[in-house]
Amino acid sequence: MVPSSGNSNYLKGAWYPVARSKAIRKNVLFKSKVAGIPIVLTRLGKPFALVDSCPHRGFPLSYGSIDENEIQCKYHGWKINAINGDCISIPCLTEAQKKLGIEGKIKSQSLACVERGGMTWVYIPCGKERAYTCLESLPASFDRDPDVYIEKIFKADIDQSTIGLIDPVHVPFVHTSSWWNKTNPQDFKIEQRDFEPGQRGFTLKQHVITNLAKPYKLLGEPVKTEIRFELPSLRLEIIQGTRHAACSLTVLAPIDQQTTRVHQCLYWSSPWLLPLKPILKALGEKFLDQDRVIVEQQQEGIAHNPVLTLVEGADTQAKWYLRIKREMERCQSEGIPFANPLTPASLEWMS
Ligand code: FES
Ligand SMILES: [Fe+2]
Repeated sequence: MVPSSGNSNYLKGAWYPVARSKAIRKNVLFKSKVAGIPIVLTRLGKPFALVDSCPHRGFPLSYGSIDENEIQCKYHGWKINAINGDCISIPCLTEAQKKLGIEGKIKSQSLACVERGGMTWVYIPCGKERAYTCLESLPASFDRDPDVYIEKIFKADIDQSTIGLIDPVHVPFVHTSSWWNKTNPQDFKIEQRDFEPGQRGFTLKQHVITNLAKPYKLLGEPVKTEIRFELPSLRLEIIQGTRHAACSLTVLAPIDQQTTRVHQCLYWSSPWLLPLKPILKALGEKFLDQDRVIVEQQQEGIAHNPVLTLVEGADTQAKWYLRIKREMERCQSEGIPFANPLTPASLEWMS
């Protein structure tokens, strides 16, 4: 069944980006929300994350103050260690009450937090074990602050936003720009692409880009690309030209059941592309905004939960996404390791 209500569940047992790493600073409380969980982050050399909820009466710690590793709650002044969530002090306790040792027994929930690809990620747990290492498929040469970073909030749920991300046939209808090659439907040709399953997703195998958009030509022709999709919602495109390589990383993180944060990172190996940064950022902003507008307009048509149709070929990746997500949820609920049910396939569509 295709979800259409704009109210989809999100996967736990998964790493999600919160922000560009530069935004997480020492002595500053950074407030966010991922997969329905309020989160507060700060930096002490590396970033640390807690669930943004005081262990006293749940007041958001992010409204409090921070001094090095000590967060003080604004409501009754309890102090919490930002690194591990331990309660450090409770001002209202008498000396006799303190001797009972209650302060040492109380904790805020801390979340595993890493920096990869220039973003800060948190792990939303499901069970005790961490299911996988964050962003292990990013090539080491691009594991740094991105050359272009764009963040946008889509007023759409994670499933529809993700399906929009891996939809190969919206491009000529939605991304209409003079700098992006547009094909009229009467000129559509068969596109045939080979896929193979990956650890938590599927990979469009490396192929030469034929209908090359102008920014790609700067890498040196022929330009080859490989696109990986991984649960929960990560698209990694590695673009290899004869002179240089580039990488486009798009990661979607659910905020709540109707809202999704999209993180778009571009990395490239060519120093002479640096002067083009403002232009590439502006083009990227426009491109991502076209995706935002289309999925937000889509919400108007699916709010009443109509029956939807996914076709073979063009929508097969959407079907794969829903299938492996369901399988991941089943494995998590049964406490067994995820095994990808997909097999290698060749898909065709008109584009
Ligand atoms: S709610 Fe935080 S100190 Fe009371
Ligand atoms: Fe798009």
